[in-house]
Amino acid sequence: MKRVIAPLALMAALPFTSPQLSAQQSADLKAAPYRDPSRPVEDRVSDLLGRMTPQEKAGMLAGSGWMESQPVARLGIPEIRMADGPAGVRNWSGPSAVTNDPKAKFASTAFPAGITLASSWDVELAGRQGRAIAQEVKALGRDMILGPTVNINRVPLWGRNFEGFGEDPYLAARLAVAWVRAVQAEGVIPAVKHFAANNQEFERHRIDEKVDERALNEIYFPAFKAAVQEAGAWAVMSAYNKVNGQSCAANRHLLTETLQRAWGFKGFVISDWGSTYSTAGTINAGMNLEMPGGEPMRSWLAQPQAQKDGNGAGWLEAGKVLAAVAAGQVKQEAVDDSVRRLLRVMFSAGLFDAPHRGGAIDTQEQRAVARRAATEGVVLLKNAGGLLPLGGPGVRSLAVIGPSAAVARTGGGGSSFVTSSYVVTALDGIREAAGPQVQVRYALGAAMQGEDAAAQTPEACASLRAEAAALAASCDAAVVVVGNSSKIESEGFDRTSMDLPANQDALIEAVAAANPRVVVVIVAGAPVTMTRWVERVPAVVCAWYGGQEEGHAIADILLGLQNPSGKTPVTFPVRLEDATAYGSYPGENLHVAYSEGIYVGYRGFEKRGVQPLFPFGHGLSYTTFSYGDLSVGPARVAKGGTVQVALTVRNSGARAGAEVVQVYLHQARSSVDRPQKELKGFCRVELAPGESRRVAVDLDQGAMSYFDPSRNGWVAEPGSFDVLVGSSSADIRLTGSFELGNE
Ligand code: BGC
Repeated sequence: MKRVIAPLALMAALPFTSPQLSAQQSADLKAAPYRDPSRPVEDRVSDLLGRMTPQEKAGMLAGSGWMESQPVARLGIPEIRMADGPAGVRNWSGPSAVTNDPKAKFASTAFPAGITLASSWDVELAGRQGRAIAQEVKALGRDMILGPTVNINRVPLWGRNFEGFGEDPYLAARLAVAWVRAVQAEGVIPAVKHFAANNQEFERHRIDEKVDERALNEIYFPAFKAAVQEAGAWAVMSAYNKVNGQSCAANRHLLTETLQRAWGFKGFVISDWGSTYSTAGTINAGMNLEMPGGEPMRSWLAQPQAQKDGNGAGWLEAGKVLAAVAAGQVKQEAVDDSVRRLLRVMFSAGLFDAPHRGGAIDTQEQRAVARRAATEGVVLLKNAGGLLPLGGPGVRSLAVIGPSAAVARTGGGGSSFVTSSYVVTALDGIREAAGPQVQVRYALGAAMQGEDAAAQTPEACASLRAEAAALAASCDAAVVVVGNSSKIESEGFDRTSMDLPANQDALIEAVAAANPRVVVVIVAGAPVTMTRWVERVPAVVCAWYGGQEEGHAIADILLGLQNPSGKTPVTFPVRLEDATAYGSYPGENLHVAYSEGIYVGYRGFEKRGVQPLFPFGHGLSYTTFSYGDLSVGPARVAKGGTVQVALTVRNSGARAGAEVVQVYLHQARSSVDRPQKELKGFCRVELAPGESRRVAVDLDQGAMSYFDPSRNGWVAEPGSFDVLVGSSSADIRLTGSFELGNE
């Protein structure tokens, strides 16, 4: 953990306002060991804990407001000031309905959504985005950012797919570690959320998920575990749902046995907002801080929506905690443990030592990170005949069409939505990048569902479509920007269909019929159905939700100012029925069985032999890459050893570009069923035309293991492993193998 040491002068800045203290007592406190930033964190925690009354300790287990923890003025314990994330800093002043108000009182940088960042497969960039966000958190006077979201994309309909890092646990883990490290290096507290298996919004407060231990450990836990063990995550947020019969906020198996005991988590667990339903059970399970609290919590809980949702809060307020201790239902040590965890993180983050902690907001650098991430996240799904990039003398006029062309869809809806000081639409971006020699013309084509009732009548739809088709016919090429919106894809509810809303399929068909040189750009946070038109359009680009710089990113890719390098972190099914969890989602009578087990995403498609529309890890470039000279060594590795996979990647085309080399592992003969492929390493490499580079990935024992519930642990079984190296999960270019020995 990084400790932020503040100058001694700042120590005086903390409040000592309690009127009950004598001058001598105040002086003693100022000289107390916990006030000394040069002392080890654990010493400071113990010293401070020893000075606290039972009331003060109990008071720290619940929030004091919507986004604030409880301060203790007598001892100068500050509040933790939180802000929502993870795609930037969201206004923190009230519940979602209030804070998504576009007239919010401040603007911060709207970074691309988690799925966009994941599509970059750029771990270093994830760190830069985390750092940029953390600096905004500090500049806005907050201490904690409620992110990253690392829940796995189990079903394409999940309303929050856009927030997470995709369907693969290894990819999600790498990005989470980078993000968390960078945030904590700024002295800002992240909250890795939502622990665990928050994979649907439908009945999210009440749904009970039956998930087997192997699936939890191999699919749903790894990103949390890596954030805890590799990045030393300071905080984890529990989920709303139940896992195997117990709500996550009171789930001893998740919080105590897994997080604390098995993984050695030293930070604190924060509840999701309004997800607690008991006092003793919640504390004893390992919950350390209930949110929200105080009057904002009470008035919110009284609202019909919170009641309808079945939210619970107020259980860890001081009075209830003290009563539970007095009744012998909660041990004082359990309360002390929570306070210790909170204080440990607060000291580690420097909250006691530096109340004003710098940072910056909406800077050129932050904007540049947002643009870079949006650009690297764009995935070129299809480019038949090399239609893209659009440019050159053949394109003098361009029709830009669609309900997401002149409106920037920066992110999905709910608590992650950021209000930025500006947005760049695809239309703006294309006009800017195309320059005066290209005539860019616009047509709406279809009105986004829920946005313009007058344009939704059958007649209005038909005439918008006809107008767009006529425009496309009169231009050299057409770009149709379609997708979802933050009202369709959002926290709080799932989509009911994978199909594009607002008749956008018909719009694409009409434009494609009018002009064969058509590019479809998808702005959405999850796969959409493309069956009606995907064979008929030459080029398809998925831009996801790109934050405030979305339009620049789209334009730079379409016009060839940037070479696409994104790879999809989720499998695109042909139809919803092909999705791996189809049939075991969203459950019945508030129960859902994760009957596909570990076969989530590409693991499930490959097991069942179902062809996806676009496979996991797929993404094209304007250049080509050749793979060669694979070496896998040693050929036989002893238990506990590491195997190195090395290969040479060459940019065999004419443009500079980046390739994401993916390393998958497979054990054909095993005493348990294992996936045909599991991502265990990757490497993003930028190459000039003709340039070659040797890249290497290490596979350790963990990469070779499966989780065995009967032993409650990981097992690497001796035998032969296939190493599959490719440009996507379905485009394997090189194969090798090694033997794991018994010795
Ligand atoms: C969300 C969390 C969020 C919290 C505070 C909850 O509804 O699930 O992700 O951090 O609200 O806004």
